[in-house]
Amino acid sequence: MCGIIGYIGGQSALEVALTGLRRLEYRGYDSAGVAVVVDGGLRTLRRAGKLANLEKALAETEAGLSGTTGIGHTRWATHGGPTDTNAHPHTDCTSAVGVIHNGIIENFAGLRAGLEHGGHELTSETDTEVVAHLLEDELATLVRDGSSLPAGTNPLTEALRRVCGRLEGAFTLVVVHRDHPDVVVAARRNSPLVVGLGAGETFLASDVAAFIAHTRNALEIGQDQVVEARRDGVSITDFAGNPVEGRPYHVDWDASAAEKGGYPYFMLKEISEQPTALADTLRGRLSDDAEIVLDEERLSTQDFRDIDKVFIVACGTAYHAGLIAKYAVEHWTRLPCEVEMASEFRYRDPVLDRSTLVIAISQSGETLDTLMAVKHAREQKARVLAICNTNGSTIPRESDAVLYTRCGPEVGVASTKTFLGQVAACLLVGLYLAQVRGVLYGDEVARYVERLQATPTLVRETLATVEPVRALARSLVDAKAVLFLGRHVGYPVALEGALKLKELAYMHAEGFPAGELKHGPIALIEPGLPVVIVVPSPRGRSHLHGKIVSNIQEVRARGARTIVIAEEGDTIVEPYAEHLIRVPATPTLLAPLVTTVPLQVFACELALARGLDVDQPRNLAKSVTVE
Ligand code: M6R
Repeated sequence: MCGIIGYIGGQSALEVALTGLRRLEYRGYDSAGVAVVVDGGLRTLRRAGKLANLEKALAETEAGLSGTTGIGHTRWATHGGPTDTNAHPHTDCTSAVGVIHNGIIENFAGLRAGLEHGGHELTSETDTEVVAHLLEDELATLVRDGSSLPAGTNPLTEALRRVCGRLEGAFTLVVVHRDHPDVVVAARRNSPLVVGLGAGETFLASDVAAFIAHTRNALEIGQDQVVEARRDGVSITDFAGNPVEGRPYHVDWDASAAEKGGYPYFMLKEISEQPTALADTLRGRLSDDAEIVLDEERLSTQDFRDIDKVFIVACGTAYHAGLIAKYAVEHWTRLPCEVEMASEFRYRDPVLDRSTLVIAISQSGETLDTLMAVKHAREQKARVLAICNTNGSTIPRESDAVLYTRCGPEVGVASTKTFLGQVAACLLVGLYLAQVRGVLYGDEVARYVERLQATPTLVRETLATVEPVRALARSLVDAKAVLFLGRHVGYPVALEGALKLKELAYMHAEGFPAGELKHGPIALIEPGLPVVIVVPSPRGRSHLHGKIVSNIQEVRARGARTIVIAEEGDTIVEPYAEHLIRVPATPTLLAPLVTTVPLQVFACELALARGLDVDQPRNLAKSVTVE
């Protein structure tokens, strides 16, 4: 949530900030602002609405923002509505300091009261503004006690360290000051911050997309650390001022990967990239002796053998990937596997110990609910394996081992290609656990892996045949609601289809286990209601297939319009399907990799037919860094 960029170097800070913000806008888009240090002054401009509003205001303003030190922000509102006044950057009483922030400062009310009591005038409703005024006070104190600062210590850096010591909550803060044009200073706690190291220029940002056009050399910043960025590099300390090292890494994708590449929307591009994304997730994962290759492994094979229970924690779409994984993990490993929304996990005191494996799934690696679940699990001594798409993000760093999904940057707020990557990664972990625990033989694992390796081709075939799905979606533009039904792994797919439709088309959509329908939700069926049914393969689990065919008939009997997703060759469903969407045949546990695809296309097309922006749906942000 909230996109942040700070810059110091030889280029126009304004231009760098705007280019960065265009790439970060998916993180929050209800207001935007910039601040640039110009000739001993600080110039700021802020506007409610999308970045385009700020750009328009900049084009109209007389005030030059032509310095080489500056910051920029796109906001997802928490405290105070999306107005010009609440937009970042925020300044102190003297307009000397500019602050941008991602996160929530939980003790801001008390801090604000103290500041107002001390004579400060705060103009916005935000929690962020207190930081600017606290910095003003700390800098004044440092000036008074000038001699107490060690030589070479920048007062702004020291002031930020002191302020951070007084803050509770989650935050990334980036700060500039009119009297300190040679530094941009930043701090983080439970909120993302990465450094970009260029030649004679340094970037600070929420994620690497902000500076990928300038450099691919990045530095991970640890928890509770302060970074002083200069043109020639950075100094990092903890909040107490002790020097620490950042972890350097090279970003393995370039700027073109974060561009639309000829598509009108990122989401359309990302849907079409799914065969490649899936292939990249799977590539090189199993060694010749069928050992799974994790990216960062601080767990031994013996640790995996000692596991006696699995928990999966995640949010939203990632949670749906976890629900699919449960079927595979339990079937292949015979270990009990629970799947839990990360936001609920730590509050119910789950039973965890060192023989519990917690799998945390997150595209961004920054979702605060998931991060807090990971921290809780580790405090209880559980082993934590992260499945993540973003190198250098917090969740992998806080986990014992990582499997990166390698799907490349996902800019559309709705997850698509990374969902397939997450499902595939979970399946690999399930197979690995089964193998090390001796539940599946090597040749059985190899057979599954072979079928998995074929899925990118099946996804490509599915994408090649979705044109009728688009036409169907357009025909339902005026529908009031859509229900989604599934059984077994088709149930999480139904949930995912409903989530996509809610978030993109703002329609009432619900996913149900098809068998549960008669226990209540069937009352929702009325003539003409579109009901999407994800049908399991008639091969393999034929009892399931028979049951869902009955469920289709139940809704048809009550006048619903049945939209059936079924595999090639399944003729049994034909008489009951008003609209039949065909997908290639796959083993049951792998089927979500293909059955989800038409549902993504359906939701995207319906939203477009309603004239909506599928990349930036209202009220949402790509990376949810508040609880
Ligand atoms: O970055 P994460 O995977 O941790 O994000 C979790 C959810 O916020 C996310 O999956 C969200 O539900 C999707 N954008 C929905 O498409």
